[in-house]
Amino acid sequence: MRKTPLLLLGIIVAFLFLAPVAGGQSPATKLRATEDGLAMTPPMGWYPWNEFGQEPQNEKLIKEIADALISSGMKDAGYVYVGPDEGICFSRGDNGKLTPNLERYPSGLRGLGDYIRQRGLKYALYTDAGTRTCSKAMPGTKDHEFDDIAAFALWRADYVKIDWCNAKGQDPAQSYAKLGAAQLAAGRPIVFSLCSWGVGEPWKWAASVGHLWRTTADICAPGKADWGKAMKNTAENEKLYQAAGPGHWNDPDMIITGMAGLSETQNRSFFSLWCMMAAPLMAGNDVRKMTPSTIEILTNREAIGINQDPLGIQGHIVRREGPAEIWAGKRLFDGSQAVLVFNSGTVPANVHVTWSDIGGSDSAALYVRNLWTHQTTGPQRGGITVTVPPSDAAFLRISKSNAFPVAPVIVADSYGLSFHAPAPGSKKLTGAITVRTTGSNELPLWKVQAGLPSWLSVAVTKHGKSQTLSNTVSTVGLTKGIYHAVVRANNVEPVSGMPMTALYYDVDLEVGGGAARN
Ligand code: GLA
Repeated sequence: MRKTPLLLLGIIVAFLFLAPVAGGQSPATKLRATEDGLAMTPPMGWYPWNEFGQEPQNEKLIKEIADALISSGMKDAGYVYVGPDEGICFSRGDNGKLTPNLERYPSGLRGLGDYIRQRGLKYALYTDAGTRTCSKAMPGTKDHEFDDIAAFALWRADYVKIDWCNAKGQDPAQSYAKLGAAQLAAGRPIVFSLCSWGVGEPWKWAASVGHLWRTTADICAPGKADWGKAMKNTAENEKLYQAAGPGHWNDPDMIITGMAGLSETQNRSFFSLWCMMAAPLMAGNDVRKMTPSTIEILTNREAIGINQDPLGIQGHIVRREGPAEIWAGKRLFDGSQAVLVFNSGTVPANVHVTWSDIGGSDSAALYVRNLWTHQTTGPQRGGITVTVPPSDAAFLRISKSNAFPVAPVIVADSYGLSFHAPAPGSKKLTGAITVRTTGSNELPLWKVQAGLPSWLSVAVTKHGKSQTLSNTVSTVGLTKGIYHAVVRANNVEPVSGMPMTALYYDVDLEVGGGAARN
């Protein structure tokens, strides 16, 4: 008599521990993001490789790009991570330590990061898990993992992409786990972007190590977009949809929208696909020279809202009709869902999407929002018919309500504050960081995490969609020297209750002049 319930319990326990979540990762796996709260929605930013390759990556280019991200509206749309890729940034000195390349980066790698962070952007750096980077122009981290990542932390990297060149004989899971441990040991919150191009099937294990992993080969050779490769990466990445979620993302590579080689239609449908796949949105075009159409596509907040949805679901193909693909499965924070009809063929496609195609009931009366024309139709029953030109996409949002709120994106005026007190004594200094959501709903108050050093206190006040984090620094009892703190604040998206990506910023305090800088 007692055996049956015990057996049942055993089966349930076995199921709970063995059933795959996140596309094959065991539920016993603790997500890296659970600790640091980073990348709860797909990271957004800009990386040089697609457009420039190695040349001319240098401080001037990265600063000009950072400025252009701000002036073009890209930063306000959510693109924040920026920095060099394989940009000949450092070499290894005789003592084994990394040394910045001051010819290319005269402010040093810390200085470049400060420039970026002070403008409300976040600093991305690049290295490799093997012995050298791909072109062999820079040292890899192999056998220097802890020292190298400690150097990245001193340079205040917020995001690190780690490539997989010259890694012969290395096991991806082991090598990247060591690099993840090195990041934790370095004590700085860092978004970890694994770049093994799918080698070692990172979607099966990398959620415990980092926040995103490349699933595919490079999307193009530097300088020219390649539609065929983009379609190949899309097909490979689509199949892995179960592996993605808040804090752990499939990465089919950087965005090619706005590069030479694509039509306006392709620019738009590519971006729609990346939004639908909850792919990281790392722009790869020259943002200093964008056409109005490219800016409009890359900053479309309704499309970005789908990508940045707090539930973090990756959409997938639910039905094909000839060359037309019907993508769905992407439930959104307000109960609506995203639907994409992509025509991969060469003649226009006329497709009827039924509500049962997308998991609903055909008798439901639903509103349809076109995310490119920004128009709403309906409510209508049964489904919707769309005519999609070749290579184009109808990107839709379907809902019982016609409200269509836009998911939050956080924009800050700065992620770094510096205070200088001329001499030890008793002095109070203040400085503020302003953050706002560009989503439809106000957010609750950001909650500053406990554990700040005794010299720093932070108070948060709210003015609608903007919040001020007021920092007060007290030098009472401090001796001459340099002090540093990283402030973390947490929040939830109010409609879904999902955790927001943790907000981090640096506070520097110098007491007395002349102390050496990191
Ligand atoms: C690999 C990566 C690219 C880029 C280059 C740099 O090919 O996949 O994204 O970082 O290395 O050499």
